[in-house]
Amino acid sequence: MHFSIIATAILANVIAAAPFTYPLANGFPKVNMTTLEEIFKLAGGTTPNVSPPATLTNSGVQTLQLIAANELFEIAYFTELLHNISFGIPGYRADQYIIDSLTAIVNQEQVHALAANGVLSHANKEAIQPCQYDFPVDNFEDAVLLAQIFTDVVLGVLPLAQSQFSSNGGDEDVLIPVVGSMIAQKGEQNGLYRFLQKKVAAAAPMLTGGSPQFAFSAISQFIVPGSCPNINTIGLEAFPPLTVETVPKAMNGTQLFSVKGSIPASNVSMVYISGQNIPVTVPISNINSNGGKTFFFAPFPYDSGFARGLTIGALVSGSMPSFNSSADVAAATFYGPALIEVN
Ligand SMILES: *[C@@H]1O[C@H](CO)[C@@H](O)[C@H](O)[C@H]1NC(C)=O
Ligand SMILES: *[C@@H]1O[C@H](CO)[C@@H](O)[C@H](O)[C@H]1NC(C)=O
Ligand SMILES: *[C@@H]1O[C@H](CO)[C@@H](O)[C@H](O)[C@H]1NC(C)=O
Ligand SMILES: *[C@@H]1O[C@H](CO)[C@@H](O)[C@H](O)[C@H]1NC(C)=O
Ligand SMILES: *[C@@H]1O[C@H](CO)[C@@H](O)[C@H](O)[C@H]1NC(C)=O
Repeated sequence: MHFSIIATAILANVIAAAPFTYPLANGFPKVNMTTLEEIFKLAGGTTPNVSPPATLTNSGVQTLQLIAANELFEIAYFTELLHNISFGIPGYRADQYIIDSLTAIVNQEQVHALAANGVLSHANKEAIQPCQYDFPVDNFEDAVLLAQIFTDVVLGVLPLAQSQFSSNGGDEDVLIPVVGSMIAQKGEQNGLYRFLQKKVAAAAPMLTGGSPQFAFSAISQFIVPGSCPNINTIGLEAFPPLTVETVPKAMNGTQLFSVKGSIPASNVSMVYISGQNIPVTVPISNINSNGGKTFFFAPFPYDSGFARGLTIGALVSGSMPSFNSSADVAAATFYGPALIEVN
C-alpha cells in the first residue's frame, strides 16, 4: 500500500538529478478530499480542528510563512529520498521499517504545510507556494545526516515561533500548542535519524536555538534560484553561506571556515549559538583569500558548555561584540549559519 503511493508520488520526478518540482503525484499542494483523507491516513492523524486565529499580526504571518516554506522544502526532500530508495538509485537502500517511517514523515510534513498555509488563508494572508529544489546528497547515509541537520535547525527556530505567537497575544495563542506538537514530532524524527547513524539518540539536554534568518538561510541553499513563486513575501533575506571546512570534535579546538567572497580584514568576529546558552564570541585569525573564497580560523570552545549536536556559527560585524540572544546575533551577521555538528 505504502509503496504504490510512493511509486506514483515520484513518477512526476523521473529524472532524480533534475531539480525536484511540485506538484506531487497526489496533487499536493492542491489536494481534493479523497487525497486529503489518504494523506491523513498515511500521516497517522489530521490537521488540527481547533478554530484558527481570525486575524494574524504581521510577525505572526511571517512566522507561519517561514514554517510553510520549510515544510514544503522538507516534503520535497523526503519525497525524493523515498524515490531514491524505492527505485534503487545507487547508494540508496533501506528496509521496510525505514520506508514506512519516511512515508509517515513525508505525509506528516504535508499535514504541517497544509496546517500552516491553512491558518494563513483563513486569516486572508498569503499562503506560501513551493519552489524547485536541489539537494547536495547522493547516498542514503549523507541524506540521513542532512535530514538530521536541517531538522536540528528547525527545532531551534520553532520555539521562537511559540514566543512570537505568545508575545503577539490574542488570537495567535491557539497556535502555541500546535507548534509545540510539531516540535515533538520533529524530535521523534531526529531520534530516528540519529539512531540510523548510531549517534546517541537524544543529542543534548537543551537543543540549540536559532533564528528565523538562520533557518531561512539554511533552506535557501537548497532552492533553485528564481524558482519560487512567492517566497519573497516572507520578507526574510538569506545570508551568504559560511562553511566549516574541518570536522569539529567534542572538545576545545580550532576550526577552519570559508566564505565565498571577501570579508573585512578587521572588525569581524565569529559567534557560536549552542544549547540554550548566551552566544559565545571568539576572534578570527589567518584570513586568507584564495580563488574567490576567503578562509579563516577561529577557536571552537566546545568545553565552555556547548551542546552535543548542532552548534550554529555566524561571522558578525564588530570586534568581539557580546550578544544576549540569537536575534541579536542574526542582526549583526555577515555570513551564516555555519551548521556545526558535534557527535
Ligand atoms: C483527487 O486527486 C487525485 C490526485 O490528483 C486524483 O487521482 C483523483 O481522481 C481525484 N479525485 C477526485 C474525486 O477528484
Ligand atoms: C536522490 O538521488 C539523486 C541521484 O543520485 C541525487 O542527485 C539527489 O540529491 C538524491 N536526493 C536525496 C534527497 O537523497
Ligand atoms: C575551553 O576553552 C574555553 C574558552 O577559551 C576555556 O575557558 C576553557 O577553560 C577551555 N576548557 C578546556 C577543558 O580546555
Ligand atoms: C566595527 O563594527 C561595529 C559593529 O558593526 C561598528 O559599530 C563599528 O563602527 C566598526 N568599527 C570600525 C572601526 O569599523
Ligand atoms: C545583555 O544583557 C545585559 C544584562 O541584562 C546587559 O547589561 C547588556 O547590555 C546586554 N548586551 C547587549 C549586547 O544587549
